[in-house]
Amino acid sequence: MIGQPLDRIDGPLKVTGQAIYAYEHWEPGQPLYGVIVGATVGKGRITRIDTDSAEHAPGVRMVMTHRNAPEQGARDESVPMEYWRAQPVLTSPDIHYHGEPVALVVAETLEQARAAAALVHVEYAAGRGRFDFAAYEDEAYAPKEANGGFPTDTEVGDFDTGFSTADVRIDQRYTTPYELSMPMELHACLVQPRGEDLIVYVSCQIVDAALASIASTLRIDPARIYIITPFVGGGFGSKLGIHAETILAAIAARALREPVKVALTRQQIFQLVGMRPTSSQRVRLGAGRDGRLVAVAHDVTMATNPDIEFAEQTAATTRSLYAAPHRLTTHRLTPLDLPRGADVRAPGEAPGLLAVESAMDELADALGIDPVELRIRNEPAVDPESGVPFSDRHLVECLREGARRFGWEHRPTTPASMREGRWLVGYGMAAAIRKHFQGQATVRVRLEADGTAVVQTDMTDIGTGTYTILTQVAADGLGLPPERVRIELGRSELPTSWGSGGSWGAANSSTATHRACVAVREKLLVTACGDTGSPLHGLDPAEAVFAEGSVRIGGADEALSEILARNHPDGVQAEGETRFMGDDPNYAAYSIHTYGAHFAEVGVDADTAEIRLRRMLGVFSVGRVLNPKTTRSQLIGGMIWGVGAALQEEAVVDLRSGAFVNRDLAQYLMPVHADIPDVDAVVLDGYDDKANVLGMKGVGELGICGAGPAIANAVFNATGVRVRDFPITLEKVLPGLPLMDT
Ligand code: MOS
Repeated sequence: MIGQPLDRIDGPLKVTGQAIYAYEHWEPGQPLYGVIVGATVGKGRITRIDTDSAEHAPGVRMVMTHRNAPEQGARDESVPMEYWRAQPVLTSPDIHYHGEPVALVVAETLEQARAAAALVHVEYAAGRGRFDFAAYEDEAYAPKEANGGFPTDTEVGDFDTGFSTADVRIDQRYTTPYELSMPMELHACLVQPRGEDLIVYVSCQIVDAALASIASTLRIDPARIYIITPFVGGGFGSKLGIHAETILAAIAARALREPVKVALTRQQIFQLVGMRPTSSQRVRLGAGRDGRLVAVAHDVTMATNPDIEFAEQTAATTRSLYAAPHRLTTHRLTPLDLPRGADVRAPGEAPGLLAVESAMDELADALGIDPVELRIRNEPAVDPESGVPFSDRHLVECLREGARRFGWEHRPTTPASMREGRWLVGYGMAAAIRKHFQGQATVRVRLEADGTAVVQTDMTDIGTGTYTILTQVAADGLGLPPERVRIELGRSELPTSWGSGGSWGAANSSTATHRACVAVREKLLVTACGDTGSPLHGLDPAEAVFAEGSVRIGGADEALSEILARNHPDGVQAEGETRFMGDDPNYAAYSIHTYGAHFAEVGVDADTAEIRLRRMLGVFSVGRVLNPKTTRSQLIGGMIWGVGAALQEEAVVDLRSGAFVNRDLAQYLMPVHADIPDVDAVVLDGYDDKANVLGMKGVGELGICGAGPAIANAVFNATGVRVRDFPITLEKVLPGLPLMDT
């Protein structure tokens, strides 16, 4: 089954409306509805808050503000990861960012809650906020480390000397905007009190984190909380942790002793779940005339919320990408009074490669070397900073295969030299690299007496295909047809995991599932080979083959159901585990990444600078593929995200108020179907035996990495205009367009 393009197990449930999402749960006793009221200033203090009219509005059961909210647990930085920490809300009259919750209104219907929320009257003493990244960029500080445990700075060799003596030098600054995760399913929850317990239906990526975060914020025993999240309509990082909607619903449900639902509005997602902070990145590349890099520096400054530090690891993979003896990377942060920074798909690589792979294109242009060839010339033999070997690196194959399939040889070598009617046509490419993370996961597999298997873990399926791939892994592991495997996910009473995030979910949960299957097999073999009633009695278990619901050893075989019926009427179960990478020696001994190469063709309107993507191809190396269909879907989804990053996405801050002015999907642009023509993703055959026992690595975020710069480089090739401030919108291209005969 592994490697087969199995259709999604959960597909029929989703398209027939039977997959129930957090806000859709209904419990006996009509739930109450909560609506969050947000601050209308970006910095300051509440001087007066009048809830009288709201409290007396029809159907209203509760208005909670900082004056009557219960004391909550504080955010505790000794808890290793943010998403597991307390997330207190309504703790004081101070306002830290625009949209910060100032009240929760709970009423019998959503309409009543919304109407009453409009009656909450708040007055503020507005303070002077720091909202303008450019104005404060120079005040940046060095965080203790970058996210993901990456060092803040690294230096190898002597960058300044290496750079100053290089034949050809690129020294450019690139900026990337605030970007947001925009899952289709809004952040939402239903909290149902049952005695002292809380049943929490919440849309989240990591069940264990939601549990820990709610328990420590509300200061209740985690054993009293039950998280249920069988289906999640996208996360993209914004559901790694829980937010005000969940904490407020839980507080209200406990206080009222009734079920309470709270969902964010689409506009509130721009304020309350965090965003990818804006970045300013200086990239310096020094090379010989032969194209070999001698010096690489990547200096990153990003915004952070002052209270909740967020240091995106934007220069981290630059450390592993190209060979060069002299190297430097730095991360700096400028505190701004804006919502917290948060992981947004491919944190680090997504903005970092926009800069570095644009700079590589600039270097190729300066040297007159083909951009694909330039990258191949700088392929390192070992990880260029850590010095450890790569586990399984096939970047060069991705580059070559992509160039061949795309027809790269037809690229115009002179920018702005190919024209088709009104369209200037250009080709661009970029490399992709993404760190492969491994985190803790435990999976329980139980083989029932009837010969069906149940796989249980608190792992989530956020639209990525967890149900499907774990079915394949368990079917393979136990030699069962897929219809005899049942997957149970997303409940806190199941064995814990790091859930979905960081592209680690599939590998963590699959590896643990595989191990659990191996343990179940061993138990069955001990039984069968020691059972005088079995045809397998006395045979060598090392030769056993599990297939089609039976065990075969040599010429003898027996159905699993018969072994179970005789010896294990209650079934057989075992757990399998995946260890945190910090406890797995391979992750120190090897540099473990996924790779790819993106190729894009764009047309740019010679008069208006309208940019249209015409086709795009990504070729990737991810180790072994569990399911080519779900893998391709994820890679293509990532590539389309890259289109948005290159051309469209940008949350714009009002420098007076600190509000995102374009906070809805009419104004925060991202690609729609009409923007996306022919996009294809190809995955090379592979197996990374250092990553895990299945040889697989994460694919979720790889498609984004490098997709944006491939398009940016195509725009340059089409027009001769290099835009370094993303996104590349037409007003930035238009002034540089060549004059054409019309
Ligand atoms: Mo991802 S940004 O870790 O969901």
